[in-house]
Amino acid sequence: MSESVTSNSAHAEVVGGSDVGGDGSMLLSLRGITKSFGAVQALRHVDLDVPAGQVTALIGDNGAGKSTLIKAIAGIWEPTSGEKFWMGKKMQTHTPKDAANLGIATVYQDLALCDNLDIVANMYLGYEATKHEVLDEIAMEKTAQQTLKDLSVSTVQSVRQIVGSLSGGQRQAIAVARAVMRDAKLVILDEPTAALGVTQTAQVLDLMTTLASRGIGVLVISHNLNDVFEVADRLAVMYLGTLVSSGPKSNYTMSSAVELITTGTTSRAA
Ligand SMILES: Nc1ncnc2c1ncn2[C@@H]1O[C@H](COP(=O)(O)OP(=O)(O)OP(=O)(O)O)[C@@H](O)[C@H]1O
Ligand SMILES: [Mg+2]
Repeated sequence: MSESVTSNSAHAEVVGGSDVGGDGSMLLSLRGITKSFGAVQALRHVDLDVPAGQVTALIGDNGAGKSTLIKAIAGIWEPTSGEKFWMGKKMQTHTPKDAANLGIATVYQDLALCDNLDIVANMYLGYEATKHEVLDEIAMEKTAQQTLKDLSVSTVQSVRQIVGSLSGGQRQAIAVARAVMRDAKLVILDEPTAALGVTQTAQVLDLMTTLASRGIGVLVISHNLNDVFEVADRLAVMYLGTLVSSGPKSNYTMSSAVELITTGTTSRAA
């Protein structure tokens, strides 16, 4: 039996009443995360480890609990039970702002960008740089430009372009660059390539690889297994609220991943 078919409960670790736990070598560790919405149990005792400097792909069918899980990480809602650890220490995050302060940046599909503002204004929204109490537009423009350059985002012609005029891939890049500029240590992306064409998808996949190569942990939800196998270092598969399998990509084949997604189990070894 390969590691890919190991049940999640086999490597579950019970951590109770301690400030230290999870896998300390991991950026983020979840242990026994459960979330109920009334009678619906969206997450069932989920254990997940997300390392720094790697791309972890969270996959699973519609309604499997992927978005619910990342919202629990991002502080949108409290899990019904379970614990979250950040670099081995218990996370005391209760709001999205708490999670952002730790260095967790979540890029949702609607991206929350302001169409009527330019790229610089969007990247600094709520965090504007000031000099003698006036906005330091020159410094903001320079940093925005440099951040895009560092991330090899070359298709944007001017950082003074209005965001409403950008393509889907460019918007995605701006949202990611905004997260990076705020010193994110973990960037979470919910289906970042769902609405993108071939070239733009390639750009966003490149961006994820660039983030990981800079030591940032990337957790990405995707339904596109070609993208997943191209960019991910690790896979985590959800089925009906349970994390049924996780491990290095080499533990999986395309067909074992499909089987895990559709049945929650696999007979195929990688
Ligand atoms: N706010 C909510 N209130 C009640 N039920 C919810 C809520 N959010 C999610 N659910 C339920 O939790 C389950 C998991 O939903 P979730 O959105 O996490 O799935 P998903 O894996 O992200 O699916 P998709 O691939 O379609 O985006 C579903 O049964 C859904 O109906
Ligand atoms: Mg979802």
